[in-house]
Amino acid sequence: MTEKLEEIRKRAEIAIREAKTLQDLDDVEICYLGRKGELTGMLRQLSSLPDEEKKSLGSKANDIKGELERMLLAVRRQLLENRLTEIGRTERVDVTEPGRRPPEGHLHLVTQAIREVTEIFSRIGFVRTRYPEVDWDWYAFESLNMPKDHPARDEWETFFMDAPESKKGKMVLTPHTSNAQVRELERGQFPVRMINIAKCYRRQIDVTHVPMFHQFEGLYVDTHVSITHLRGVLDYFAKEFFGPDRAIRLRPFHFRFTEPSFEIDVSCAVCKGTGEGPDRQKCRVCKRGWLELGGAGMVHPNVLKAGNVDPKKYSGFAFGWGVERTALMKSGTKLDDIRVLYKNDLRFLKQF
Ligand code: PHE
Repeated sequence: MTEKLEEIRKRAEIAIREAKTLQDLDDVEICYLGRKGELTGMLRQLSSLPDEEKKSLGSKANDIKGELERMLLAVRRQLLENRLTEIGRTERVDVTEPGRRPPEGHLHLVTQAIREVTEIFSRIGFVRTRYPEVDWDWYAFESLNMPKDHPARDEWETFFMDAPESKKGKMVLTPHTSNAQVRELERGQFPVRMINIAKCYRRQIDVTHVPMFHQFEGLYVDTHVSITHLRGVLDYFAKEFFGPDRAIRLRPFHFRFTEPSFEIDVSCAVCKGTGEGPDRQKCRVCKRGWLELGGAGMVHPNVLKAGNVDPKKYSGFAFGWGVERTALMKSGTKLDDIRVLYKNDLRFLKQF
């Protein structure tokens, strides 16, 4: 029996030493020391032996049991420690690592331009207004010195609303921001310093036109307003928006609601208004030294009258430009097709 005990101890010791996981170790323990384990079985048999033998074998068996238990404990600790080191290595959390940022958008190119234009004019006292983008014929045309059936209206390829007519005529989707002029004059508060930025609609769509676009409309009305003021304001804007080395020029033109009327050009950033490239050939960007921005002029007396303002007492100027055009000119972006502005293609929009 002594031999049997020694043999069990040897096997058990080897099994304990060879255990690779905590599970292996549990299995070994059950196998030898469990209720039906080999050593437990031996201890049970001892009770049937004569006293003398029972004593010596009993103490031997108990020694073996104690030894195996100590060994199990030591190896279990070691395995547990290994396991924790392993977890620490593979599942480490670095709390100082910066978090993952959700994708962040930015304002649309046109919105950015609207904000900048508003800001620039606010610095010289112009207040941004909001007037309807669906308005009566009276505000869009008639009060602007364009009587019904006047051919000048043709230029503003207008969308008419299918809505009941009123004293002020049909309803239209505003084809320009000039509808704000008489609406602002009607408020009767002077001096008028308005910057109206709104959507405009015209029946046009091709690579250089979209049916919905934006304009900003300036109106300044006070006593003794002259063309010099118009020039000063436009020059200020050009320098603030495009850069200090840019200048504007006025070219005679015709609008029904301003007299005299002008088209406004801004000097080209590349050739500085000379129209010449570095090789003494025509500037590749502008060809003429100047880029066209929009319209302007001194408010027509009939428009002042339509807004209940006495043209003998008050005078003023107005101007109206396209936001999209102005914004693209600033960034120097040449679009083959202006419609990409409104296609919501992130590959394009992200660049601004
Ligand atoms: N409303 C004109 C346009 O759409 C621009 C303009 C505004 C011209 C104000 C003169 C004065 O072309």
